Amino acid sequence: MARRLRVGVVCGGRSGEHEVSVASARSVMAAMDRDKYEVVPIGITKEGCWITAADVVKALAAGQTENSQQVALLADPRRTGLVRLDDREGTAETSIEAGLDVVFPVLHGTFGEDGTVQGLLELAGIPYVGAGVLGSAVGMDKAVFKDVMQAHGLPIVDHVVIKRKEWDASPERIVEDVASSLGFPVFTKPANLGSSVGICKCQDRASLADGLAEAARYDRKLIVEAAVPAAREIEVSVLGNDDPIVSVPGEVVPSREFYSYEAKYLDEGDDASRLLIPAPISSTLTGLVRELAIKAYLAIDCSGMARADFLLSSETDELYVNELNTIPGFTSISMYPKLWEASGMTYRELIDRLIGLALERHRDRERCETAYQVAR
Ligand SMILES: Nc1ncnc2c1ncn2[C@@H]1O[C@H](COP(=O)(O)OP(=O)(O)O)[C@@H](O)[C@H]1O
Ligand SMILES: [Mg+2]
Repeated sequence: MARRLRVGVVCGGRSGEHEVSVASARSVMAAMDRDKYEVVPIGITKEGCWITAADVVKALAAGQTENSQQVALLADPRRTGLVRLDDREGTAETSIEAGLDVVFPVLHGTFGEDGTVQGLLELAGIPYVGAGVLGSAVGMDKAVFKDVMQAHGLPIVDHVVIKRKEWDASPERIVEDVASSLGFPVFTKPANLGSSVGICKCQDRASLADGLAEAARYDRKLIVEAAVPAAREIEVSVLGNDDPIVSVPGEVVPSREFYSYEAKYLDEGDDASRLLIPAPISSTLTGLVRELAIKAYLAIDCSGMARADFLLSSETDELYVNELNTIPGFTSISMYPKLWEASGMTYRELIDRLIGLALERHRDRERCETAYQVAR
């Protein structure tokens, strides 16, 4: 029998989406086929400390990580195992575990979905699931993402990007400029975040000022967008490297005025937001959503997976690319795997495909020479 692949599943992290990541990782680890994979659970605490433990999910969820084994990864492709860090009586000892064959970062938001962990894994020479450094970073930054969409002729909402420094220096002028260029209502957002943290819908100048102040708590770059009138939220799952495939689209019906943090994670039962799969939209719109999702995916040089999110105006029928989430929510009831299930791919199969894509991408990158041979 072939040796099982050692797969590091990383969860938690220094992000406002720490808890969501832990919930996603719990589902991923529970579904992985143990005949094929040896799962190495890896947690990152909210402080950024890396640990490993048989029940890392429990340790992180309980906030009891002091007794877990502290570990690190080296930026050295010759040693791809976790380094155990032991401090005993003032002497630091290290030992290295067996190498990891692949890592599945189940991390959402900052320091995980934004290219930082991907950079570490590149340096370590370990294949990993999902987008690379560039795709992750562009997917995370709403301002740069919109620039790339625009350059590829893909439809996006009217928006303005403001540096926090400019906002701090002249708030009144910025409120006036935005009000005259975009009108109301608008959405204010930190450029790099997720789960709707720091996002406000603003109806007038006073709430715009409050919204920008709120966004400025989280990022040095702020974005204001014209609100799509009577917006419907259509999402589709993309999977693959150079030749991605796309699922049936779904629709989110938020439990609140917009799909806020509360609507995403806190409202429960009859008050919860609903997922409609497949999305009740025309076949023409379905085709357009699928086509735009692939174009957006390739435009940011994404690989592995992404959930492409669209805003559809039920007033004007206009469709806009809102964002690509390169590590979408991954619990067994999350939109990304649900859309694949509706398209004929089980949750377990999806994990197999993602790991296969990680290995394929790594092999492809290894073909590239990193030294120039001067001809003699
Ligand atoms: N321009 C917009 N028009 C209408 N609704 C919007 C707009 N931008 C954001 N929203 C609402 O806010 C939610 C969160 O915004 P989004 O850009 O998706 O941020 P996040 O990355 O935090 O998910 C969306 O799902 C939608 O409900
Ligand atoms: Mg979103």
